[in-house]
Amino acid sequence: MNLKLNGKVALVVASSQGLGKAIAEQLVTEGTSVMITSRNEEKLQTVYEELKQIGKGNVSYCPADITKIEDIQNLVTKTREEFGKIDILINNAGGPPGGTFEKFSDQDWQNAFELNLLSYVRTVREVLPDMKKNGGRIINIALSSIKQPIPGLILSNTFRLGVVGLAKSLAEELAPYNILVNTIAPGRIATDRVAHLDQVKAEKQGVSREDIEEASKKNIPLGRYGKPEEFAKVVTFFVSEASTYMTGSSFVVDGGMVKAI
Ligand SMILES: NC(=O)c1ccc[n+]([C@@H]2O[C@H](COP(=O)([O-])OP(=O)(O)OC[C@H]3O[C@@H](n4cnc5c(N)ncnc54)[C@H](OP(=O)(O)O)[C@@H]3O)[C@@H](O)[C@H]2O)c1
Repeated sequence: MNLKLNGKVALVVASSQGLGKAIAEQLVTEGTSVMITSRNEEKLQTVYEELKQIGKGNVSYCPADITKIEDIQNLVTKTREEFGKIDILINNAGGPPGGTFEKFSDQDWQNAFELNLLSYVRTVREVLPDMKKNGGRIINIALSSIKQPIPGLILSNTFRLGVVGLAKSLAEELAPYNILVNTIAPGRIATDRVAHLDQVKAEKQGVSREDIEEASKKNIPLGRYGKPEEFAKVVTFFVSEASTYMTGSSFVVDGGMVKAI
């Protein structure tokens, strides 16, 4: 299958580590020029050096806090200046804090909205002029709670579904421009964030992180956490020219964990 990603330009948001970094790496390997970004310039510099070693697609980086509109505007402008166009947008972010309803104030809800939903709205708005000219691919990274809510993650459970609604509406509005919009949701993929969440849970329960991991794996039919590159390969297919007839859909990459139909 020819993915035809060579020569394309991708903006991968929140890509200094974890899933975003794995997606950037996969795209560079396919010959795509990639703009990586996060808040931390030092981390970006390190990832930039690493990705350059692949020697296929070009790489650039631009620090941005995606809760700030002016940072998003600057990021998109820099991507355009650096590579001349934007064909692919990967919307991604850090996760909101875990907790149940009574733990959170209005400010917590506002923060989660800005990080996990409004930032996606703003990046789409900024890249639209490029994509309306040549078509494009937009992927929103979400969470398996879009199919089955996760206890104790009320902020995520709420705003990730907003992302699905946004994608579904955008799919219809942007189809005339051949812009395809899909949502891809990880189950448990072994990143620093998941290790941290397992550690927090372990400390709460007075057990080891390994115990928590083992218990989680029992709920995953494939019996293990996913690797970031396994998740990244699915995303890479969806942004490629091999995927031309799917838009407005949501997919989980979870080793069979979610039981909802
Ligand atoms: N891994 C999984 O199994 C899993 C499962 C379900 C959902 N998810 C969701 O998928 C997303 C990525 O997960 P991950 O595991 O890759 O997380 P991660 O390892 O914590 O990485 C998060 C990335 O987001 C960046 N970031 C955070 N806040 C930002 C901000 N305000 N502006 C710009 N960049 C920001 C971080 O970079 P800096 O700190 O350098 O800014 C980092 O690059 C998260 O939303 C997570 O909730 C992951």
